[in-house]
Amino acid sequence: MGSGIALTAAQSGITAVQIDVSQPALDKAKASHAKSLARLVEKGKIQQADADAALSRLSYATSMGDAKASDWVVEAATENVELKKKIFKEMQATFRDDVVLATNTSSISITDLASAVGKDASRVIGMHFFNPVPIMKLVEVIKGLATSDETTARTIALATAMGKTAVPANDRAGFVSNRVLMPMINEAFYAWMEGVAEPKDIDQIMLLGCNFPMGPLRLADFIGLDVCHDIMMVLYRELGNPKFFPCPRLRQLVQAGRLGDKSGHGVFQYPAK
Ligand code: CAA
Repeated sequence: MGSGIALTAAQSGITAVQIDVSQPALDKAKASHAKSLARLVEKGKIQQADADAALSRLSYATSMGDAKASDWVVEAATENVELKKKIFKEMQATFRDDVVLATNTSSISITDLASAVGKDASRVIGMHFFNPVPIMKLVEVIKGLATSDETTARTIALATAMGKTAVPANDRAGFVSNRVLMPMINEAFYAWMEGVAEPKDIDQIMLLGCNFPMGPLRLADFIGLDVCHDIMMVLYRELGNPKFFPCPRLRQLVQAGRLGDKSGHGVFQYPAK
């Protein structure tokens, strides 16, 4: 998602540095940025000059230090609390003390992540984007216990400048989006496991009957089955209700390495890219 956030920022006139420990991941992001912009030019949605300008605003780095003059930072690492806390400590040590430390977490407590930076917790906020970031209109904005009103106002202003609608939610596991979306996806796995219908029919029913843009099982593959599983585990642990425990069929696919689009096989199979 970091790649989509960086691209959206660059298209909105913001200079963005994408940071990743993996150089191959950065190479892939760079190629995908160029391809997305070229596609928009081909379709006549933007001018070549706009694409060139967006590309010139993007750069890539394997070290946070290379971006230390930044005015804003959005952490978008995998959903692992300890990893994210380590990154937050590094962000605190790297960036100026007026920089907002945002996280794109999809379910982890903002208050918990903010505890990693102690006195700077007032600058920590959830800035939850949705995939595909350039298309989806929402940024869910989540205040932690210590997040200041100034940090919140600045976050709403930045999301708006990126062409998004910022909507507030409180700091409970999964916030609103994943508190509602993930149990629905999990239930689709139960419907499949219990033989209520085949996956393609479950999706077709939700597509045609509920006007979903993609069925819940197709969406699970798109998000990543491991991500769906991890979010359900956060809901289960934090809200203490067994109804959030991931469906055995979902767990089994993750154990088998069937993670969805990114592995070429999840609920459905995908041609190699
Ligand atoms: N990047 C940029 N643009 C993209 C894109 C991408 N990855 N994927 C599709 N698009 C664009 C297409 O170019 C197309 O643009 P035009 O209309 O200008 O031609 C437009 O989106 C529609 O695409 P398609 O015609 O190919 O296909 P579609 O109509 O089925 O739309 C979709 C694709 C936008 C992904 C749509 O199926 C959809 O909205 N799906 C649901 C997505 C969703 O629910 N996302 C949230 C997931 S949850 C999450 O992200 C957060 C979390 O915490 C887990």
